[in-house]
Amino acid sequence: MINHLQREFAFSQQDFDQLRNRLYQLTGIKLSDSKDSMVYSRLVRRLRVLKLKNFVDYWECLNSSPDEVEHFVNALTTNLTSFFREPHHFDILHDYLVANPKPYTIWCAACSTGEEAYSIAMTVIQAFGCYDPPVRIIASDIDSQVLSVARKGVYPLKNLDNLSSVKRKQFFFKGRGSQTGNAKVIPQLKALIQFKSINLLDNKWDVPDKLSLIFCRNVMIYFDKSTQAKLLEKMVDKLDDNGRYFAGHSENFSLMTNSLKPLGKTVYQPVR
Ligand SMILES: C[S@@+](CC[C@H](N)C(=O)[O-])C[C@H]1O[C@@H](n2cnc3c(N)ncnc32)[C@H](O)[C@@H]1O
Repeated sequence: MINHLQREFAFSQQDFDQLRNRLYQLTGIKLSDSKDSMVYSRLVRRLRVLKLKNFVDYWECLNSSPDEVEHFVNALTTNLTSFFREPHHFDILHDYLVANPKPYTIWCAACSTGEEAYSIAMTVIQAFGCYDPPVRIIASDIDSQVLSVARKGVYPLKNLDNLSSVKRKQFFFKGRGSQTGNAKVIPQLKALIQFKSINLLDNKWDVPDKLSLIFCRNVMIYFDKSTQAKLLEKMVDKLDDNGRYFAGHSENFSLMTNSLKPLGKTVYQPVR
């Protein structure tokens, strides 16, 4: 039950239901009943920016303005990420690339602010032992705001805390002047990655037909089982026979599909 007390704007169950249904249609993100406060607190900022009086007016605005749809999606996605999140995946990636040195196309399918894609690029450079390896990384997300952060490749120094000092020196420039407190990724990392907007719910994805590796971590958890199963089958179709699918730590697909064989640590290989 929604608690109306102490809220700047009235937010009814109907407001919440129509907003979460719209989010589900647009993105596949399924919000449980307990997320009403999250939806309120993230969208209340939009009401203030747009100088609206209530959520009924916001609903009208959402239905009449494509720009607001973009803000709405950006506001309600959860973008938590970090460099070398779930570090075991990057050890596995490193060993895999060293064992099979050849050209690769890698898709990082919900890259948020870019740390995951840059972690893949650092691993690739280290595995190939050069700054121009034969590897192309496509990194995508639905959220236009996080993609613009990812394209800049500038991060607060504290975000680099879990990187070794060797990696910090090798792959980042420390900001000076107005950029004090920030670090910027070196151009050789950026050169390996193409950032683009892709909604995983779209019928057609702007990625090559054949992919060597897919990182799709910590996004499937926001989707319901039928959406997860549909997306998984589509992704497996694109993977090379000896390719790998990297899932997030809480995403276990062993019971969902026969097309992926678990290799441990939420890494999978296609089964044909
Ligand atoms: C929690 S972050 C995970 C980031 C990164 N993969 C990681 O594991 O650190 C989830 C990301 O999925 C994105 N996302 C949510 N729904 C999406 C969709 N339908 N299509 C593409 N990206 C989506 C969000 O914008 C968000 O940046």
